[in-house]
Amino acid sequence: MISTAEPTPLLAVEALTRRFGGLVAVDGVSLAVRQGEIFGLLGPNGAGKTTLFNLISGITRPSGGSVHWKGVAITGAPSHRVAALGMARTFQNLRLFSSLSCLDNVRVGLHRHSRQPKLRALLGTRTFRQREEALRQQALDLLESVGIAELAERSSASLSYGQRRRLEIARALAGRPELLLLDEPAAGMNTTEKGELTELIRWIRREHGLTVLIIEHHVPLMMELCDRLAVLNFGRRIALGTPRQVRHDPAVIEAYLGSANQPAAARTEAGVPGSGLTGQGPAREEGR
Ligand SMILES: Nc1ncnc2c1ncn2[C@@H]1O[C@H](COP(=O)(O)OP(=O)(O)O)[C@@H](O)[C@H]1O
Ligand SMILES: [Mg+2]
Repeated sequence: MISTAEPTPLLAVEALTRRFGGLVAVDGVSLAVRQGEIFGLLGPNGAGKTTLFNLISGITRPSGGSVHWKGVAITGAPSHRVAALGMARTFQNLRLFSSLSCLDNVRVGLHRHSRQPKLRALLGTRTFRQREEALRQQALDLLESVGIAELAERSSASLSYGQRRRLEIARALAGRPELLLLDEPAAGMNTTEKGELTELIRWIRREHGLTVLIIEHHVPLMMELCDRLAVLNFGRRIALGTPRQVRHDPAVIEAYLGSANQPAAARTEAGVPGSGLTGQGPAREEGR
């Protein structure tokens, strides 16, 4: 429960649950994201992280529990309403328009916010053209802010994986969100790109005054980046706290490094190397 002494969190989920047939993908998860923080969701493959994002962003309806935005219940709200409230997300499997240029991919996001009467667009009036030029400049600025302005005219299909992930972030920012949800933004990136991404996310929080909810497998990145973390395993929240608290939590160490009866989820190919999680201590030896 949230203490009454604390300010209302930006986003709070309470006992959130989603079943798929017999499988409970998200099982009574509660957490609250405070304004301005970088909050991480950590957990092995299949732990329910993306499903939790889908429940928050209105893509999937919950089987139980609640979602509150600034203290107002928005449980089950459709994704367009969630977006209008001030949340934007990226997807684990990128969703870009591959035939469009980078600039146009971002412009699509901006257009949703620009109320342009259709008639004026058809007539090509001066104000319309000025507005279009302003949108183009805004899109360029966003590409610049994620470090890919020089790729503006290239088709998104021609980009490297890391560049595409940056483009998706730029497009999410186009909606001027207050909360940015990032689903595995470092997937497919090399070590240098991961370092740059960490810097980019910090910069975004600072410059855009954003709150960030991030899913990532890469434990060292999460430990370095996040103010607080929740750890999921088999749909349940098994830990919550600062990176330091989470790193030493026995339930987390067990979920990642396993014991005699290691959970299957901890063994998946995308599983996290134990060295990143524990740093040092007995649990590390146990896992080897
Ligand atoms: N639409 C769906 N239908 C059925 N099962 C699903 C669906 N989406 C996710 N799942 C299942 O829910 C569990 C959690 O998946 P997911 O949220 O994608 O995990 P994560 O993002 O942590 O890897 C998995 O077992 C997955 O197969
Ligand atoms: Mg996922």
